[in-house]
Amino acid sequence: MQTVFEAIKKIAFEIDDAIKNSDLGYAEKENASGEDQLKIDVLSDLIIEKEFVTVPRVSMLVSEEKEGALQLHSSGSYMVCYDPLDGSSLIDVNLSVGSIFGIYEGSLDAQYLVASAYVVYGPRIELVIAIKGSKPMLYRAEGDQFKVIGEISLNEKGKLNAPGGTQQNWAPHHKAFIDSLFAEGYRLRYSGGMVPDLHQILLKGGGLFSYPGTSDKPYGKLRQLFEVIPFAFMYEQAGGQAINEKGERLMELVPQHHHDTSPCFFGSNYEIEALKKAYGIN
Ligand code: AHG
Ligand code: MN
Ligand code: MN
Repeated sequence: MQTVFEAIKKIAFEIDDAIKNSDLGYAEKENASGEDQLKIDVLSDLIIEKEFVTVPRVSMLVSEEKEGALQLHSSGSYMVCYDPLDGSSLIDVNLSVGSIFGIYEGSLDAQYLVASAYVVYGPRIELVIAIKGSKPMLYRAEGDQFKVIGEISLNEKGKLNAPGGTQQNWAPHHKAFIDSLFAEGYRLRYSGGMVPDLHQILLKGGGLFSYPGTSDKPYGKLRQLFEVIPFAFMYEQAGGQAINEKGERLMELVPQHHHDTSPCFFGSNYEIEALKKAYGIN
């Protein structure tokens, strides 16, 4: 597994450099989710592919920017599913973006996720790695190295509320629940990039990030294999919870297709319990 994490560290520096120095125009193609690809999405995908080609333990790659899986080493056992650049449409306004990695062994099914990692490209480069049985670990780039900062642990209750999706298309019970959190004193913190939004909640001790099913996107927007499941694992390892609209753990998801999405809610225990009550799924 260490070779996979070392590859992710190299990737982080390369993608950060690409964000700062390369062309941000459109690639004139769509990805498998029907979204316009930016040249930087495609470049980040190639940076990641090029690095994992050198890691014999990696058997297969599944990327947000590739239609199908890419087979690598038949001797390897890790299947790496990744979003090369999350929130790429925020780069032109100079907001933070990220990369997300889910490492599966055995099957592309949440229960088979063995580790996850994400990188935040902000004023500084930060990396968080979660492995089974321990709290997620935060690293910060200093020079050309990553330095360990410490473990990440969620409090029982937080103060931040990051409500995703178009409000006009929210279900009435979802709107009532989000409003009730604000009425309780929660503060809005939402950039439109799930990596910095979820990272902020993790580092500030807790809160809720939601991306529900909406009237225009009944299954939500965020993709299971490389967005939802890696962060569900992070939140559970940090002492929080991650569920869907039925109250089922996102760590029980069994994706049918590589680009399947799911409504998702990530938070500390208090907010997720409040959500279950509001949704009538207790
Ligand atoms: P990506 O840039 O990889 O397509 O993902 C962006 C995601 C996520 O970061 C964010 O939470 C969500 O899209 C916001 O989407 P909308 O603004 O369309 O609701
Ligand atoms: Mn994304
Ligand atoms: Mn992306």
